[in-house]
Amino acid sequence: MCGIVGYIGTRDAYPILINGLKRLEYRGYDSAGVALVTENGEINLYKCKGKVKNLEEFVSNSDLSGHVGIAHTRWATHGEPNDVNAHPHYSHSGSIAIIHNGIIENYAVLKEALMENGYEFKSDTDTEVLVNLIEYVRMTNNCSLLEAVQGALKQVIGAYAIAVVEKGNPKEIIAARQSSPLVVGIGKGEFFLASDASPLVEYTDKVVYIKNGEIALLNIDSPLKVVDFDNVESKVNVKKLEMSISQLEKGGYPHFMLKEINEQPKTITDCIRGRISPDSFEVKLSGIIDHADKFLNARRIVFVACGTSWHASLIGKRMIEEYCQIPVVVEYASEFRYSNPVICDKDIVIAVSQSGETADTLAAIELAKSKGAFVFGICNVIGSSIARETDSGVYLHVGPEIGVASTKAFTGQVTVMAMIALTVAKEKGTISEEKAVTIARDLYRLPKVLEKVLTLNNQIADFVKRFTYAKNFIYLGRGYNYPTALEGALKLKEISYIHAEGYPAAEMKHGPIALIDQDMPTVAIAVTDHVYEKVVSNIQEVKSRGGVVIAIVAEKDEIVSKMADFCIKVPSLSECLMPIVVAVPLQLFAYHIAVCKGLDVDQPRNLAKSVTVE
Ligand code: AGP
Ligand code: GLU
Repeated sequence: MCGIVGYIGTRDAYPILINGLKRLEYRGYDSAGVALVTENGEINLYKCKGKVKNLEEFVSNSDLSGHVGIAHTRWATHGEPNDVNAHPHYSHSGSIAIIHNGIIENYAVLKEALMENGYEFKSDTDTEVLVNLIEYVRMTNNCSLLEAVQGALKQVIGAYAIAVVEKGNPKEIIAARQSSPLVVGIGKGEFFLASDASPLVEYTDKVVYIKNGEIALLNIDSPLKVVDFDNVESKVNVKKLEMSISQLEKGGYPHFMLKEINEQPKTITDCIRGRISPDSFEVKLSGIIDHADKFLNARRIVFVACGTSWHASLIGKRMIEEYCQIPVVVEYASEFRYSNPVICDKDIVIAVSQSGETADTLAAIELAKSKGAFVFGICNVIGSSIARETDSGVYLHVGPEIGVASTKAFTGQVTVMAMIALTVAKEKGTISEEKAVTIARDLYRLPKVLEKVLTLNNQIADFVKRFTYAKNFIYLGRGYNYPTALEGALKLKEISYIHAEGYPAAEMKHGPIALIDQDMPTVAIAVTDHVYEKVVSNIQEVKSRGGVVIAIVAEKDEIVSKMADFCIKVPSLSECLMPIVVAVPLQLFAYHIAVCKGLDVDQPRNLAKSVTVE
C-alpha cells in the first residue's frame, strides 16, 4: 500500500517530503525513507525500519540539502519490514533511486534474468528488481532515463506508482502509474507528487491525476509533460483541489479516529446537503436520476466492496430490496474478481469504497464492465480511481478519513445507501409517499441525533475498562443491525487486537453459543425494531449460560435494560437508519478499549488504510 511523495523546485525538498510522509503514513508504516538529489547531482539516501518519526531521528545529523527528492512510507508486501527492504532502493550501480507503491508480479522471472546479467540484489523486494531493470534497459540501449522507464515498464506485470531520480540529473523526476494512485501538484516553478493529494494541500490547489499507463515528467525547466509507454503525449488535465489543511489535522483530539467519530454530525450534514429538500423532504441524487432508466430496468444489483464498505453494502441490500423491490447480492470484491459471475447488461454493479483505490474493488469493476454491467460508484475520495472508472456514482462528502479504522465513512455510506434507495423507490413507485417522507425526515434529523449519541462518550470510556481482559467478544444483531454487529466486531479486532465475531443473533444457537461463558462478553444490538422480541430471546439465551451482556437499546427500553449487565441507550429513528445510530457507540467502545490497552489507535499493527495491493 505504501505512500509515495516527491518534490522538485526551489525550496528545500526534505521538510516537504517529511510532512508529506506524515500525511501518507495511514497508508503504511513499516519503514520510511528519503532520497535527496543535491545541487551537484549527488544522491543522499536515508531509510530505516519503523515510522516517519524514526526516520526523522535517524537523519537528524545528516546532509539534508537538495531541492529535489522522493520519499516513501512502506506497507511491506515482498520482504520483511526492515532497514534493507525500506524504500527508496538504489539500482545496482547506485545511479538510480526508486520509490514504489504496488507489486511487481513477475519480479521473480525478471530478477533471475537480471542476475544472469551480473546484477546483485541487496533486498528481498520486488521494487529493487524494477529499479535494476530500468538501469539495465538504460545501459544496454544507451537511452534516456525516460526511455529506460518506458522500456522497463513494458516488461512489468503488476501494479505500481513509482518515482525515480538519477545521479547527475538534479532537474528531473520521472513518475509512472499502473493501478496504484498517483497525483501531481503544480506550483510556481515547482512540482509535487504523491499517492494522494493530502501532502500537496498547503502548496497548491492545481492537481493532475495521473492515469493508468501514464508517465509524468517533472522537469524543473519545463511544464508538466505526460506520455505513455510508447511516448505518445496526452493532454495535461489540471483539476482544482478541494481540500483544506484543517481537514487533515487532529484538531485537538488525541487521535484521528476520535476526531472522525466526533465529526459525524457534521459529516452526515455534508453528505445530505443539497440532496434532501428541507421542505418537502424529497431526496434527489443526480447520479441516479441521470441514469434512472438503468435503475428502473435493473434485473439485479450487485454490490462489490471490502471490509467496512462491504458491511455498509449489506445494509444497502436490505434497503434496496425492501423499498425498491430489486434483487440485490453483496459480494466481497476479492472473491467476485476471481469468480465467473453471471452478469449482464441489465445488471447494475455498485462498487463501494471509502478510498476509491482498493485494488480488489477496482478489479471487480473491471470484470463487471467486461460483462457489460452498468457500474456505479459510492466513494469518498474525490477523483479517486474508482470514482473515475465507474459510469456514474455518488460521493460521500464526509471529508478525508485518516484513522485506519473506518468510522465516518461507514455512516456516510449507509446514509448514501438510504438516499439511493429512496431516489430509486420514488422513481419506481415502490414506496409510499408517507414512508419516503418519514425516512427522509429522519435522515435530516440524523446529525442532531448523533450529537446526542456522542454524549455517551464518557459513559462508554468508563465502563470499557472492565473489558480489557477479554480475549474474545461476540457481537449479535438481526435485520438491519446484523451488518452493524459485523462492523462493531471489525472495529474491535482492528484496533484493540481482541478477537471478535459478528453474528446474526438467531444463528448463535447453531454453534457459537457453545463459546458463551463468563470470559466472553456479548455485545447485543437490541434497538426497538421488528425483530426486537427475537433479540430479547437471544439475549436471554446468553444470560442463561452465564454470559456477560452489553446491550445497545432504545432510550425507552425496559426489557433488555433489566437483563443486560451494561446498557447503552440510543435514540430511535426509522429502522433502516438505526445502523448509523448504533455504529457510533460501537466505534467509541472499540476506541476506548484500544486506548485503555495503550494501543496505536490510528495506525494499528499490520494494517494500512488504503489496500492498493491484492
Ligand atoms: C475499515 O475499518 C477497514 N480499515 C477496512 O476494512 C476497509 O473498510 C477496507 O479496506 C475497504 O476500504 P475502502 O472502503 O477504502 O475500499
Ligand atoms: N512491493 C513493495 C514492497 O514490498 C511495495 C509495497 C506496497 O506498495 O505495498 O516493498
